[in-house]
Amino acid sequence: MTSLTNKRILLAVTGSIAAYKSADLTRRLREAGAQVRVLMTNGGQEFITPMTLQAVSGNPVYTTLMDVEAESGMGHIELARWADLLLIAPASADCLARLVQGRGDDLLGAVSLACEAPTAVAPAMNQAMWADAATQSNVNTLVERDIYLLGPAEGEQACGEVGSGRMLEPTELVTECSRLFATGSLAGKKVIITAGPTREALDPMRFISNRSSGRMGYAVAEACVEAGAEVTLISGPVCLQTPERVTRVDVESAADMLEAVNEQIINSDIFIAAAAVADYRPLEVAAQKLKKQTQSLSFELEQTTDIVASVAQLKDAPFTVGFAAETNDLEKHALGKLQAKSLDMIAANQIGQAEDGSAIGFENEKNALSVYWQGGKKEFSLMQKSKLARQLVELIAERVAR
Ligand code: C5P
Repeated sequence: MTSLTNKRILLAVTGSIAAYKSADLTRRLREAGAQVRVLMTNGGQEFITPMTLQAVSGNPVYTTLMDVEAESGMGHIELARWADLLLIAPASADCLARLVQGRGDDLLGAVSLACEAPTAVAPAMNQAMWADAATQSNVNTLVERDIYLLGPAEGEQACGEVGSGRMLEPTELVTECSRLFATGSLAGKKVIITAGPTREALDPMRFISNRSSGRMGYAVAEACVEAGAEVTLISGPVCLQTPERVTRVDVESAADMLEAVNEQIINSDIFIAAAAVADYRPLEVAAQKLKKQTQSLSFELEQTTDIVASVAQLKDAPFTVGFAAETNDLEKHALGKLQAKSLDMIAANQIGQAEDGSAIGFENEKNALSVYWQGGKKEFSLMQKSKLARQLVELIAERVAR
């Protein structure tokens, strides 16, 4: 499996002759679906130019820590937050030593201190430098700190010597990176997810719907696949690509969604209801287009079936997770729904404005969640929906395992 769809990889290029392979690595990471931003140390720039890596990554290349212009764009903290993975390839002996010390006096040092995403290093150096006790001790320290070690490989080196110290080939690094995202925490589990809005017809042309983009549900589907699950995504109308290895069933109304869920739910282990299902639908659907005839027009609405509640009530109900988007009293409403719908877990988010003034919840790339279950709670701060989805899925896997 070499899928890196939507993963954000911050590639750091340090001073080693293997830096000439970084352009190819960038291209291959992008081919595998990743978004790539490149950071270069001074040493890295001795071997390959920022211009080359800017061209292949399609993004500006970051080189200095104290650069007013760069910091006003995507500063080092923002860059660290952006990454799903910090990949240092090639990682020179000096870079490994600096990581051990926790130095913050250059861009890579500061970013790696600030980065909460996993870090992977692909060492590349002369075989004697790699074998040296200082390097080996540094590598052991980094591994103890949960930094992933990718390689090095054995073979002929640029300096003419033969031994261990070659950087892994770009294709091997892409495979290793995609493995890092595959947690396996839901291996063998069958997961059904609903996502997106529903449309409730008024006449052949008009419908009642909502602002759901489907992004959160799609991100959860992708994260479940990464975690090893077999995923069916029952989706309302959205403008999103189906994540790889996900079976998608398209539906329109709440009634269609209910029918599709009932068909798929048998033998499932987990049901995640991320769809913004209409709570009401027009009692009658006009057979022909409604004409503008009166000053005002009213429709009688009837309640739709609550899909997630009906699944939670099944005899062999799967582990059932609901979502709640609220404008006020988030905790109170979320706990109320957890209880009323007999859910195993509920993920609640505020809809409105985030601290930085941007819109959160619907129609947005970022979200924050407060997750509740019987006797427990976990908060996830504002972050990209893809990252948030991975953390939520790990929490679900943890609860399911109990
Ligand atoms: O009650 P409310 O609509 O806020 O609950 C939201 C949760 O219930 C979401 O998980 C949503 O997918 C689910 N839901 C459902 N069927 C409905 C209405 C809501 O599955 N008819």
